[in-house]
Amino acid sequence: MIIDPTELKPDTVYKMMSNTIFPRPIAWISTEGEGGLNLAPYSYFIPVSSEPPCVMVSFRQHENGGLKDTIRNILDMSKATISLAHEAHASPIEASAEPLPYGVSESEHCRIDMKAVLDEYPPIVADAQAALLCSLYQITELKDSPMTIAFLKIEHFYYAEGVVDERYNVHLRNIGRVGRDYLVDAKRIKG
Ligand SMILES: Cc1cc2nc3c(=O)[nH]c(=O)nc-3n(C[C@H](O)[C@H](O)[C@H](O)COP(=O)(O)O)c2cc1C
Repeated sequence: MIIDPTELKPDTVYKMMSNTIFPRPIAWISTEGEGGLNLAPYSYFIPVSSEPPCVMVSFRQHENGGLKDTIRNILDMSKATISLAHEAHASPIEASAEPLPYGVSESEHCRIDMKAVLDEYPPIVADAQAALLCSLYQITELKDSPMTIAFLKIEHFYYAEGVVDERYNVHLRNIGRVGRDYLVDAKRIKG
C-alpha cells in the first residue's frame, strides 16, 4: 500500500507519523522568560550531532498563529532544560501540554515540582533521572510550513545518583511516545 500524504488532512498525517516513527523520546522542556517559568512536552525531538552535542526539537505554530511559549522563551533567553520523562511522568506530561496563557506556569498550575541544578539554566523536573541543560545553537524555519526547528546544544548532562556508572553507561527507564500513547520498558535486544 502506498499512501500519498498530500491526499490526507494534516491531523491524519500527524497520526500516521506518530504511529509509524516510534518510540520517540519526550523532551519535557523548561524555559524561562518574561512570563516566568514554562514547562511543556515535545516529542518531535532527536539527537542530531555529538560534535557539538546537539538535539533538534520541532515546534508547531501556536494555535493563535504566534510562537508557542517554549520557543518564544528559547529565542529570548537562548536557554532550555530538557528533562527526560519516566513512567511516573505520563500523566503530568499530558497536564503540562495544556495551552495556558503566556505567564501562567504549567509547573505551578499542575503542581509539578521543579529543582534548580545550575543557576544559569531553567530548573529540571525534580524527580527526573536525567536532563540536558542546553543553549540555543541554531534556528531554522521549515519552508512552506508552520514548523520552527531549533537545534539545542547540550552544555551539561544532569543525572540523578546511580544513573551513570564509571564507564559512562547510562541506566534510564525513559518512556517513549507512540501515537498518543506511551511506551515503557521496551525490551533491549542485541544487534
Ligand atoms: C507527549 C507530547 C508531545 C508533544 N510534542 C510536540 C511537538 O513535538 N511539537 C509541538 O509543537 N507540540 C508538541 N506537543 C504539544 C505541546 O506540548 C503543546 O502545544 C503545549 O501547549 C506547548 O506549550 P508551550 O506553549 O508552553 O510551549 C506535544 C504534546 C504532548 C502531550
